[in-house]
Amino acid sequence: MQPKLIIHGGAGNSLKGKGGLVDVRNSLQEIVRDVYDRLLQGENATDAVVRGCQLLEDEPRFNAGTGSVLQSDGQVRMSASLMDGTHQRFSGTINVSRLKNPIDLAKFLQTESDRVLSDFGASELLRELQIPIYNTLTDLRLKEWTEERKDNFQKKMAGVIAGSEEAGRGTIGVVALDRNGKLAAGTSTGGKGFERIGRVSDSAMPAGNYATAKAGVSCTGIGEDIIDECLAAKIVVRVTDGLSLAESMSRSIQECVANKRDLGAISLDATGAIAWGKTCGLLVAAYHNGQEIKDTLEWGEKETVGIDKG
Ligand code: GLY
Repeated sequence: MQPKLIIHGGAGNSLKGKGGLVDVRNSLQEIVRDVYDRLLQGENATDAVVRGCQLLEDEPRFNAGTGSVLQSDGQVRMSASLMDGTHQRFSGTINVSRLKNPIDLAKFLQTESDRVLSDFGASELLRELQIPIYNTLTDLRLKEWTEERKDNFQKKMAGVIAGSEEAGRGTIGVVALDRNGKLAAGTSTGGKGFERIGRVSDSAMPAGNYATAKAGVSCTGIGEDIIDECLAAKIVVRVTDGLSLAESMSRSIQECVANKRDLGAISLDATGAIAWGKTCGLLVAAYHNGQEIKDTLEWGEKETVGIDKG
């Protein structure tokens, strides 16, 4: 089967400034190329998703891993999840700190009996696994936090495309379909930025990241909106119940628009269909459709649902 791959680096308003657009496009394309080559060589969907998430977490312009935004108390707390569609198995970590790649912890937890661990338990596990301490803080994120503190954190969400003139919405995500027709989805985030201590992100919930043997979805945007829609699971369940991926995405995003949500989603199904959606101006996503790499960076500001027609 022809592998398929879609990744995202958040959603938001617009990427003004050519430099910003070109840099973001180059980052996304490089990651798609790397991961798609692995899928062509026979890597399974779960491993490909982990690899894609690691690369996105390592890219400081995105809000996950290195470059994660700071919470209200000036600390970085990250959340990530992984879902293996074939085994329909979810694992994740919530509000973990001092770790280079939170997706690695989600990967480890895939085969454990306790599959979602939060702050204290996650730190204990890091120590048990002897994973080296890593500081994900970047100067730019510290500057953003210091500036925002002056206004007492009035922003709804921190800037998540570091270095761009306009902020986006946080999170990275990957959905892959491998040569054997198996699906997986992964999502990772530094959170909304400036949030209360203990706030839990959608990224480590089935609302924000979900996959079965039929479809996989990763979401981005305001976590509370994604949770209220239970968006990733809803799209996947609609596909399981017989709707096409395009129709499932379209209905679900229409509901989000009606409910004035602020979010985006990327998806693949087991037939190889690719669809994405957003309720905001910009979805920072790129994909490989088997023939070529494309992205959504210059996709219409008012568009809500996109499908790849090859
Ligand atoms: N979607 C990322 C967050 O709200 O935490």
